[in-house]
Amino acid sequence: MIYSRIAGTGSYLPDKVVTNADLEKIVDTTDEWIRERSGIHQRHVAADDETTCDLAEHAARRAIEAAGVEAGSIDLIVLATTTPDLVFPSTACLLQERLGIHDCAAFDIQAVCTGFVYALSVADKFVRTGAARCALVVGAETFTRIIDWSDRKTCVLFGDGAGAVIVEAADAPGVLSTHLHADGRYADLLLVPAGVSKDYQKLRGHGAFVRMEGNQLFKVAVNTLSGIVEEALTANGIGIDAVDWLIPHQANKRIIAATARKLGLSDERIIVTVAEHGNTSAASIPLALDVAVRDGRVKRGQLLLLEAFGGGLTWGAALVRY
Ligand code: UT7
Repeated sequence: MIYSRIAGTGSYLPDKVVTNADLEKIVDTTDEWIRERSGIHQRHVAADDETTCDLAEHAARRAIEAAGVEAGSIDLIVLATTTPDLVFPSTACLLQERLGIHDCAAFDIQAVCTGFVYALSVADKFVRTGAARCALVVGAETFTRIIDWSDRKTCVLFGDGAGAVIVEAADAPGVLSTHLHADGRYADLLLVPAGVSKDYQKLRGHGAFVRMEGNQLFKVAVNTLSGIVEEALTANGIGIDAVDWLIPHQANKRIIAATARKLGLSDERIIVTVAEHGNTSAASIPLALDVAVRDGRVKRGQLLLLEAFGGGLTWGAALVRY
């Protein structure tokens, strides 16, 4: 029996930090409102000449180093992003070239904020079936590029960053199970209403930015997230007490707190980075994981529950023995 395990983690945040005080100067908002309603204090924003692939490369190199593998042994790259460098080739292919890897399968996954959980699930299945032995899984975003900086309902929430993991074949279970869902009926709650095949001209002008029904999303998010956590626990025949760390998508501290309350989980067992990172979409979970691995909270052998929710709508969870 082949299993997959996370062999190493890495992450990267661009240097530029935008504080709530900075945003007070450009939209009608206050530091107090942003902190109270979202828990966000600051976010990192990519430099004008810095792309999603740049962020992904830094995170990937750190994950490769942490895992102690040679880049040449990577035989699959799965990269989750909503903000690819180009329409094509995929950012995964651009990253492959940067890392000097040739020949292995490389592709992007688009599931917005749930992207990393989708990517991890795909890599896990490749490894378990023997189709790959060493996968690089990345969540990377320059999400602030698709933000309307005059819309206070969205611009205060998002940030840029990247996180990566190496998923290796193993004799004992690491990734225990993954659970993916989507429901396109709710597409209108969170979207960029223009793309390559629809309203393409808007992409050249000023119309292709994130629109969000925050309030409605909030309610759907809390219900969906507690449901997906229960699904993952039930599938593995365990209770929430068995979980060492919940590593949620970092959209809003109130969503995280409300989900934890529903699950009966105490704050001390949740990794929260939303204050410093904001919502980095597909990058948020691997960023939070890497922060907690490097500061010593997450230790080998512990049970981690990752959960995410985002545009699509999409949602998913992964139970991982680290
Ligand atoms: O990544 C996954 C997808 N994202 C999410 O899941 C996000 C889900 N939603 C949320 O996180 C929250 O709904 C928000 C943080 C976006 C908003 O918090 P809220 O408590 O739901 O506020 P609200 O949308 O109900 O707005 C309350 C008030 C409104 O004013 P009125 O109509 O009551 O006069 C807004 O216009 O706050 C106003 N408002 C702001 N005020 C100051 C909205 N944005 C701001 C702002 N600063 N930045």
